[in-house]
Amino acid sequence: MEKKVINLALAGFGTVGTGLARIIRENRDWIERRTGKDLVITRVLVRDLTKVRSFIPGPETRFTDDPRDILADPEIDIVVELMGGLDTAQELIKKSLESGKHVVTANKALLAEKGSELFALAHDLNLGLYYEASVAGGIPIIQTLKDSLAGNRIPSITGILNGTANFILSEMTAKDQDFGTALKAAQDKGYAEADPTLDIEGLDAAHKLAILIRLAHGVDYPLQKLPVQGISRVKALDIALAREFGYVIKLIAQVKEKSGYLQAGVFPALLPDDHILAKVDGPFNSVLLKGNAVGPIMLYGQGAGDLPTGSAVLSDIMALAKGNSVVDNTGFRERLLPGADLVEPDLAVSRHYFRMTAQDKPGVLSAVSGVMGEHNISIAQAVQKPGPQGGDVPIVFVTHRAQLKAVYSALKVIDEFDFITAPTVHYRIL
Ligand code: NAP
Ligand code: HSE
Repeated sequence: MEKKVINLALAGFGTVGTGLARIIRENRDWIERRTGKDLVITRVLVRDLTKVRSFIPGPETRFTDDPRDILADPEIDIVVELMGGLDTAQELIKKSLESGKHVVTANKALLAEKGSELFALAHDLNLGLYYEASVAGGIPIIQTLKDSLAGNRIPSITGILNGTANFILSEMTAKDQDFGTALKAAQDKGYAEADPTLDIEGLDAAHKLAILIRLAHGVDYPLQKLPVQGISRVKALDIALAREFGYVIKLIAQVKEKSGYLQAGVFPALLPDDHILAKVDGPFNSVLLKGNAVGPIMLYGQGAGDLPTGSAVLSDIMALAKGNSVVDNTGFRERLLPGADLVEPDLAVSRHYFRMTAQDKPGVLSAVSGVMGEHNISIAQAVQKPGPQGGDVPIVFVTHRAQLKAVYSALKVIDEFDFITAPTVHYRIL
């Protein structure tokens, strides 16, 4: 951009918008030294104009609740969408691009669901649609995949991509907290989405995974075909038992590529204590990936919160302000990316953890292990925890590597036994 002053409109002034405004105020001179530009927040779009704001960007900032005030203002160079949600945000981004404005967004739900249309529009108009903050908060994973690793094929990505879920599991593990208390703390700290179901049911991690797949493989992964399991049913008992066996439970987002076919999913998994991702705690996120040239790379940092996320948003604004090539929004030349070729998710192979709830009576272990054997599942460890004789007891199995499909059909048979008194809990082991 030729101008010396870059006018920004922030659409949304909650956790991330306020964080961004604070960084721009704090680092104004530094930003100018790096870009040669003065970033000025001239407009802020909010829903509720009567709300008391903890921070006001500057004397030149005007608040509005009408998107037309942004769209019709020819002085605005970049619209920064930080409202969240789908329809209103999509409309705003579309109209901003059509008005000739670059867009920066942190809205992973929108990019995962409607990204292809929006990227095609930005491509046609030769405008930037940047989204560094959409995945893993402050971690620069978008730029890394789009530019730094652009020459690599990426056979695998394994990530802890949701700060709220990771914070909840960490609190439950370290402080024996119950799920509800830990969720409330995550919400109070501004990590959670407006609708926390997205965080705890794995959907937010799925949105982020779809964005990473697009960047790493140049394809659109159909979200409805992505297997997603969240953490809302993870029990303190399994966290404690996993710990006894030397594991921690984490919400994992993973994609593997073989001969052009992708196997992807979001699921809680047991990680051995010495796994490189096992120490990623609290609101921190991490992305562990393999490039076929570079080998393994791990990025680690704060995956949510006002300043970390604001930092990522600011990096996009500064890249646009500097006048970098702006048509490279997806990292690929095509206007529309092809659909992904998928491997059946049930063909995934890993070790497994089962916790059965069974009556404590003769023949239970032999019946269960017989079914496992019939399904070609080899048991590595089996432990029955003490309980009242004749009462229900937890029995934990850790298996060698087995296909998910075999596990599901074995569990179907096992859970039908009359001595099994509750559905068996099952997690993969990474
Ligand atoms: P937030 O705290 O809930 O703030 C949302 C802001 O948008 C508020 O200022 C709200 O106005 C405004 N808004 C919402 N709907 C609107 C509408 N229809 N019209 C006008 N203004 C509207 O959200 P956030 O946590 O900052 O998240 C913003 C975006 O960043 C989301 O897409 C989220 O997924 C993404 N993100 C968040 C984080 C994080 O750590 N929080 C990290 C990465 C990405 P009022 O202030 O008047 O209510
Ligand atoms: N709710 C999201 C999380 C915010 O907890 O990771 C960051 O994308």
